[in-house]
Amino acid sequence: MEIEHTHELIKDVFGMNMKEARLLDDLLKTNDLSEILELGFAHGVSSCYFASTLKDMGKGHLTTIDNTTAKTRNPNIEELLKKTGLEEYVTYYFEAVSYNWRLMKLIEENNGPIFDFCYIDGAHDWNNDGFAFLLVDKLLKPGGIIIFDDYNWSFSRSPSMSQSPRVLAMSKEEQETPQIKKVYDMLVKTHPNYHNFKILNDNSWALAQKKEEEDLFENQVNKLESENRKLRKKQKEIMSSNSWKMTKPLRQLRNKK
Ligand SMILES: C[S@@+](CC[C@H](N)C(=O)[O-])C[C@H]1O[C@@H](n2cnc3c(N)ncnc32)[C@H](O)[C@@H]1O
Repeated sequence: MEIEHTHELIKDVFGMNMKEARLLDDLLKTNDLSEILELGFAHGVSSCYFASTLKDMGKGHLTTIDNTTAKTRNPNIEELLKKTGLEEYVTYYFEAVSYNWRLMKLIEENNGPIFDFCYIDGAHDWNNDGFAFLLVDKLLKPGGIIIFDDYNWSFSRSPSMSQSPRVLAMSKEEQETPQIKKVYDMLVKTHPNYHNFKILNDNSWALAQKKEEEDLFENQVNKLESENRKLRKKQKEIMSSNSWKMTKPLRQLRNKK
């Protein structure tokens, strides 16, 4: 497996662990998911694992987005991809404020959904990731899968972030609430186009699958509307038929009773 080889080259860099890389390798190969979107790459460890899986699959591409601050990481994604020789499988973007800006551009540039799989491991907050889900939904193909990392994580439980000025400026409730759990439970699980909800990887991943084309909410509504139109047409035909007219007195009599 390519991820084992990649692991030897990047194992000392902070990021996704090998158990997670193996789980994702298996999920992507089993479900033939090769057009990947990743939100939050940090040093690019998870990106290298995704790229390794694509190399094994012999197809696909990873689009991954982080903030401009990720450029100054040591090593950064560019260096890690070079080291692993996986550059051709990955397009990475650095954004000034949020991946949500790049998602807007991807929606604008593409005529419909382009991704089979999305891994969300970025802001872990309601403001960014609640909106990110709405945007990712527009880019995810029917049957595609989303995984949110850090389902149970909260800012107050993070040793590296809990005392940062940004987190201290939050209300206590915002610091303590697992915000990805709110996004998943309130926005994803209640969305009519998603099903197959699963909590995996020792409660840290929340998975959801987009329904197949014919089961999407808008297509179900269109189908019902089309059936409704057919029934109305039939009703009109019946009401303009001779037998309907001839039996009118009978109906009037019945209604009087
Ligand atoms: C946990 S790290 C990602 C780790 C990486 N997925 C891995 O497993 O190797 C989270 C990353 O998300 C980025 N991030 C947080 N909020 C973001 C936002 N709103 N837009 C873009 N990137 C964001 C951070 O800069 C950070 O590098």
